[in-house]
Amino acid sequence: MTELLDQLRTAVGDAHVLTEPADVAAYVVDWTGTHQGRALAVVRPGSTAEVAAVVRACAESRTPVVPQGGNTGLVGGGVPDASGTAVVLSLGRMRSVREVDPVAGTITVDAGVVLADVQAAAERAGRLFPMSLGSEGSCTIGGNLATNAGGTAVLRYGMTRELVLGLEVVLPDGRVWDGLRGLRKDNTGYDLTQLFVGSEGTLGVITGAVLRLFPATPRHATAWVAVPSVAAAVSLLGTAQQHGGVHLSTFEIANRQAIELVLAHLPGAVDPLAAPSEWYVLVELAGSASDEGLDETLESLLGDAVEAGTATDAAIAGSPAQRDALWALREGISEVQKVEGATLKHDVTLPIADLADWTEAMGPRLQEVLPGVRPVTYGHVGDGNLHYNLNAPVGRDDDLRAAAGDLTTAIYDAVAAAQGSISAEHGLGRTKAAAAASYKSDVEVDLMRAVKQALDPAGLMNPGAVVPPA
Ligand code: FAD
Ligand code: MLT
Ligand code: ZN
Repeated sequence: MTELLDQLRTAVGDAHVLTEPADVAAYVVDWTGTHQGRALAVVRPGSTAEVAAVVRACAESRTPVVPQGGNTGLVGGGVPDASGTAVVLSLGRMRSVREVDPVAGTITVDAGVVLADVQAAAERAGRLFPMSLGSEGSCTIGGNLATNAGGTAVLRYGMTRELVLGLEVVLPDGRVWDGLRGLRKDNTGYDLTQLFVGSEGTLGVITGAVLRLFPATPRHATAWVAVPSVAAAVSLLGTAQQHGGVHLSTFEIANRQAIELVLAHLPGAVDPLAAPSEWYVLVELAGSASDEGLDETLESLLGDAVEAGTATDAAIAGSPAQRDALWALREGISEVQKVEGATLKHDVTLPIADLADWTEAMGPRLQEVLPGVRPVTYGHVGDGNLHYNLNAPVGRDDDLRAAAGDLTTAIYDAVAAAQGSISAEHGLGRTKAAAAASYKSDVEVDLMRAVKQALDPAGLMNPGAVVPPA
């Protein structure tokens, strides 16, 4: 082991191989606090060549490698297990924006660039990089690609896999695949870029990416809308699509329980509406500088919704600060759930047509499993994606932990019965790998294992994540 540590120090410099428990601590626990691992070392390479040297040295000594970006993942994929045998490979020092080409509509970045920095670089070039997540101030583009992250702009621009044109990847044996061509059209066989998107560090280490840019959307019309039910929200989605057309960029839902936690725990949060509502929708239209009339479109769509009974009240942002305040109500939910106490996350997708019935049926079913459990339901309803998260009955965190398995099984069985997915956007990581295998067909699991075996025959890249061992 000393030999490996010496090789790693030679590869990246002494200062970037961390072994002291205090230095390693933040890299071995995940954001949710449920996965506490141990590591042989944390290694922080500063270039693709250094990543390749690290991976090669680990391959030679048969040492597992866990790639890590901003460590904001929600399924435990970015932290090692408790064995203490793995090296955490952090991309945190690889933060260069390599090139911006506004005419081609591309930006080429190191994998460790923080998402907010990619957005800012695009904006400086007069373009938009549309991906937007609550964790955008600390998650990295490598982590976004590795998890095929979603977020609040998927409705208009698609998941991460729709925003990438090419990748640079260090393979499990230390070779570098340079796929950074950035071509819109390239039908030369299997799509290797897409193979690595969503692979959660199990097939290689993403070190660079060419991403798509879009025309800037400096104009926004934003409303926080009270809706009586999920069925009403789905109906409002249809109205918003009809009125908003291509400008509809956000359509997010939250239940009253979620907003009560935000009002209780987020400093400065204020309920923008006079009376409480069971459900809320954050709707936003976005357009270019010449797209006048977004406010009128929003008002007319809300007018139609009130008339149809699918909305009961709305607050329209009258300034950028008011817009930020409405967004904070939505983006703050994840954080305040943690402040409130024990949480159980279920990031599920359902066919949009089934969302309302599914949600109606789920509430009473969970009360049978754990009376008093609090569904904190929110998410990207325009994509059929609910964060069907649970908080413990007030003051009873241990009861939630004890009932976690039964609650999750009840939810996942209902998702499977509705032909949905148990991971819409967070991935499988360590939390969901076994469950996903049990809900997938044997053929699907075999194919996934075959891909893993072909690229990583020694099984050293992020073992235990995504594909459970046979
Ligand atoms: P990490 O957490 O470091 O790693 C995540 C996974 O990717 C791990 O399996 C890791 O091994 C792998 N990985 C990381 N970097 C690389 C690399 N360079 N090469 C290969 N593998 C790599 N997710 C959504 O999809 N939508 C949301 O709306 C959303 N909102 C969030 C809000 C909050 C407050 C938080 C804390 C998280 C949220 N997430 C969301 C989850 C998370 O932010 C995203 O999954 C993000 O993409 C993870 O990026 P990261 O750099 O932090 O990756
Ligand atoms: C979000 O959209 O806020 C997150 O993906 C949800 C979560 O933290 O569970
Ligand atoms: Zn989300």
